[in-house]
Amino acid sequence: MTNWQELEQKYYMQVIKRVPLTLVRGKGVCVWDDQGRVYLDFVGGLAVNCLGHSHPVVVQALSEQAGHLIQTCNQFYTIPQVRLAQLLVENSCLDRVFLCNSGTEANEGAVKLARRYGKLKLGGAYEVITTFNSFHGRTLAMVAATGQAKFQEPYTPLPAGFVNVAYDDIEAIKAATSERTCAVMLEPIQGEGGVIIPGEHYFKEVAAWCQEKGLLLILDEIQTGMGRTGSLFAYQQLGVEPDIMTLAKGLGSGVPIGAVLAKEKAAVFSLGDHGSTYGGNPLTCAVGYAVAKYIIDYDVPGNARQMGQRLLAGLEVLQSKFDFVAEARGRGLLVALEFKRDMADKVLQDCLERGLLVNQPKPNVVRFIPPLIVTEAEVDEALAILEEALAAAGAEPAASPEK
Ligand SMILES: Cc1ncc(COP(=O)(O)O)c(C=O)c1O
Repeated sequence: MTNWQELEQKYYMQVIKRVPLTLVRGKGVCVWDDQGRVYLDFVGGLAVNCLGHSHPVVVQALSEQAGHLIQTCNQFYTIPQVRLAQLLVENSCLDRVFLCNSGTEANEGAVKLARRYGKLKLGGAYEVITTFNSFHGRTLAMVAATGQAKFQEPYTPLPAGFVNVAYDDIEAIKAATSERTCAVMLEPIQGEGGVIIPGEHYFKEVAAWCQEKGLLLILDEIQTGMGRTGSLFAYQQLGVEPDIMTLAKGLGSGVPIGAVLAKEKAAVFSLGDHGSTYGGNPLTCAVGYAVAKYIIDYDVPGNARQMGQRLLAGLEVLQSKFDFVAEARGRGLLVALEFKRDMADKVLQDCLERGLLVNQPKPNVVRFIPPLIVTEAEVDEALAILEEALAAAGAEPAASPEK
């Protein structure tokens, strides 16, 4: 039998700490490995597979569109692109859309848009304030935006124009604002940062400050968008409206697509200012449209809200049973369990052995980001497996802290 993991080590650039599992098939919330073992997938492609694996709506949109038109260049109008843009605008507070291929590319587009705005309306202001412990992507500019030294240090010097400040701290944003500032860019919840949920007034204070100073508020909803936190977009629960919003991940439920949305006043790109060969192509847009329409028509955010509450309640019970659990937290199906010590890796392994896939954004945090169509029975099964895994992990001596 082919040893795919050995071949990966030989041929693939070694940049990813892999889970020792070769996945070959998925259906709904389940995935199968090459040994035929089945797992409950509470990683969901890192908050991507919002409709689960091989959802009929995705499969149908992909295959139908593949038979019609896969790619043309953006010099021509295509129907799926326009339909998706219209659907997103009609269901958000934003007025215009630019479609691209990934989250980091959407954020690049958002920052370019903010810089254009700065040039045209703010006397050449170009700086974007972002936060420590954020994650905005892997391109050089988004590494500069991402306020985490481990992503930045290997690539210095980084592109100029980003100021990283503390999250959930309005005074830090105020102190960093200068005549150079054109925008503030924030995640509604820091997902990769370990599911960090700011205080309830933070976003209202930030929006008020942006309004007062004439700055653009960019919300990176790449992880929180498309129903993940229990509403179509997380901003709907924050009592603010972004001037620019970025989407990716759940938008295609597995096909690579990203989007920059902007209010009319901020949509200042003019002809030739931005572009993409693949961005907004008929294939990914047909799927994006089918996914977004399904999420809206079938109240998928409502399911995320209910299943998220069930999951969180179950995690709180586990917290009361295991004294090494520090906190259970989350919104919708963006949920985390934090430990008092760095044992997330061990918990992940113990879950894996018992047939549950979870993710570990920090050495002391396990994250649960299952498909948004997850059922009560699947949530309960995951909690039962997790309880066994915690009992096993807790029985082990404390691991040395991960670097
Ligand atoms: C909030 C946020 N922004 C941006 C990105 C980058 O998206 P992509 O990996 O599609 O470039 C991620 C990915 O995890 C993310 O969570």
